[in-house]
Amino acid sequence: MRLGLGRLDALRGRTGAHRRADGPAPEAEEGPWGPPPVIEVRALLKTYGHGDATVRALGGPPDPLTGASPGVDLLVEQGDLIAVMGSSGSGKSTLMNILGCLDVPTSGRYLLDGIDVGGLDEHQLSLVRNRKIGFVFQSFNLVPRTPALAQVELPLAYAGVKSAERRRRALAALELVGLADRVDHRPNELSGGQQQRVAVARALVTAPAMLLADEPTGNLDSHSTEEVLSIVDRLNASGRTVVLITHEDEVARHAKRVVRLVDGQVVSDVRQAPVDGPPPALRDPALFRAAAPQALTGGAL
Ligand SMILES: Nc1ncnc2c1ncn2[C@@H]1O[C@H](COP(=O)(O)OP(=O)(O)O)[C@@H](O)[C@H]1O
Ligand SMILES: [Mg+2]
Repeated sequence: MRLGLGRLDALRGRTGAHRRADGPAPEAEEGPWGPPPVIEVRALLKTYGHGDATVRALGGPPDPLTGASPGVDLLVEQGDLIAVMGSSGSGKSTLMNILGCLDVPTSGRYLLDGIDVGGLDEHQLSLVRNRKIGFVFQSFNLVPRTPALAQVELPLAYAGVKSAERRRRALAALELVGLADRVDHRPNELSGGQQQRVAVARALVTAPAMLLADEPTGNLDSHSTEEVLSIVDRLNASGRTVVLITHEDEVARHAKRVVRLVDGQVVSDVRQAPVDGPPPALRDPALFRAAAPQALTGGAL
């Protein structure tokens, strides 16, 4: 690792200076008292292909008169738990890939935890991914035949953390997801829900600015889905920012805010619970359970 966190902070400082020189600051930007939003996206556009074959995956259709697309604007505050919803093809994965710095937008601006990622080279982007984002995928993406503890230590190894410290932090993360008694188990010795909990532990062990999860419960049965979502609830209640990409209403119910995409555009943005406070499932657990579909409560109760 050639660059450390200090270098990332320098980038953040430089970005701030650049922003002030650039023009008037948008209203919700970093103020003198508050932290910057974890995500600040402005006029984001993503197209694939060229000419007649152009697909506008993100940003909406062009205005017939001006030819300009409205683009996607999105601010996510620290401590929020947000679900990005939409049917297949609406642009969810495209957005996830850009927010996760796995792909770059065609145009528009993206600040992650105050860092303008548009100006970073490949090496700096990989550093941002490692330090700022914890990924959780639908298919778990665990390393085959590798014990849970080693899976969770992996991102710390990439970050250059020493072995004893790695072990200590990985054990704490596994304990947080309720797998302290499974640290030596390999993926094929764990249930789907447990495998996804290992993936969640791996995502949070670096203490990232946000957890970014693409259909995290897409491969899980209803019981494991609830297990994973209750961990997400608790992580958020302890202050972690979470972005869930999902097409399932049951997942979106857990979010403090629900953003809906249609044809690459934000068509609705609903707040279900305040940013400062517990997520819906922990605000009034009895009410939350009572509103759950029968299939989800029937087996367990
Ligand atoms: N690599 C690609 N090349 C061309 N078109 C793509 C590519 N990736 C996605 N698309 C198109 O962009 C749109 C949004 O896709 P996607 O972000 O995967 O949607 P979702 O995850 O909501 O199902 C779809 O019309 C899809 O066909
Ligand atoms: Mg998708």
